[in-house]
Amino acid sequence: MLQRPRRNRRTAAIRAMVQENHLDPSHLVLPVFVHEHARPHPIASMPGHSRLSISAMVELAQRARALGLAGLALFPALNENQKDAHGTESLNPDGLMQRAIRTLKQQVPELVLFTDVALDPYSSDGHDGVVVGDRIDNELTVPLLARMAVAQAQAGADFVAPSDMMDGRIFAIRRALDEAGYFEVGVMSYAVKYASAFYGPFRDALDSAPRSGDKKTYQMDPANLREAGREIKLDEEEGADILMVKPGLPYADVLHFVRHNTSLPVAAYHVSGEYAMLKAAAERGFIDFDACLLESLLCLRRAGADVIFTYGALEAAQLLAK
Ligand code: PBG
Repeated sequence: MLQRPRRNRRTAAIRAMVQENHLDPSHLVLPVFVHEHARPHPIASMPGHSRLSISAMVELAQRARALGLAGLALFPALNENQKDAHGTESLNPDGLMQRAIRTLKQQVPELVLFTDVALDPYSSDGHDGVVVGDRIDNELTVPLLARMAVAQAQAGADFVAPSDMMDGRIFAIRRALDEAGYFEVGVMSYAVKYASAFYGPFRDALDSAPRSGDKKTYQMDPANLREAGREIKLDEEEGADILMVKPGLPYADVLHFVRHNTSLPVAAYHVSGEYAMLKAAAERGFIDFDACLLESLLCLRRAGADVIFTYGALEAAQLLAK
């Protein structure tokens, strides 16, 4: 045999030398859920995660910073009585989200702060846009998203992160940010976001499941890949700074495709259901959580992710520090 691939795997030093992809805490972003209440509210389907008060979230952010994470992705869990059909509370400069952003930027300014732009956390309908009859109205929604983005930029967001999948929102948001003078605030577009069943635990976390219908008229069909090409081309032209693919591992082929069809940084979202599956299987003793988490994240890097949003960010960073 002339070819013996095992020669390059013989010792740890050789393996490290030829390792093609790496995982580092600086690639990882931790999603966090903030609420108005002092006590944490554990999220049953996401062991280890809770809705936190702003001050508890700051402590978590300090841990994230100490472990070398890139940043945080912030999501607000509102009380039902603060929600309405137009997500009005999202614009409140003294609302939960804006206060959380301001506090975080004051206390832990080094972390990159991504803020979610979509109606669902604020919407009594649980949809990412304004519901009119049985439709989600694109034209009514986009101006609201642009105002929400400006409110978050004003509070101190580094990147606003539209996760709503309305058409034309990246352009509208970029223009609104620029008109308000926020030239340096970036837009991380959830450009390729599928209508996935893997978001279940996240909707528990925010109590934001759609009250009627599903999200298939705005999120993408899991059957489609070519359509990802169309979405990323548009968001790039409309001014996005980072493009995201979501969910993560089941869509590794999409991530690979996007990586090879844009020169922008690409993010992957290892979503709530993926995290919940690892936790549940590990709780039953079927898999090793730590090893499967690190493998999942490394596979996302290999598939093309520069940045990874994951609920396992702190655990991964701790493991990588060993
Ligand atoms: C909604 C939003 C969702 C997630 C992030 N932003 C859920 C959805 O589209 O219903 C999911 C994240 C996860 O599952 O971890 N704007």
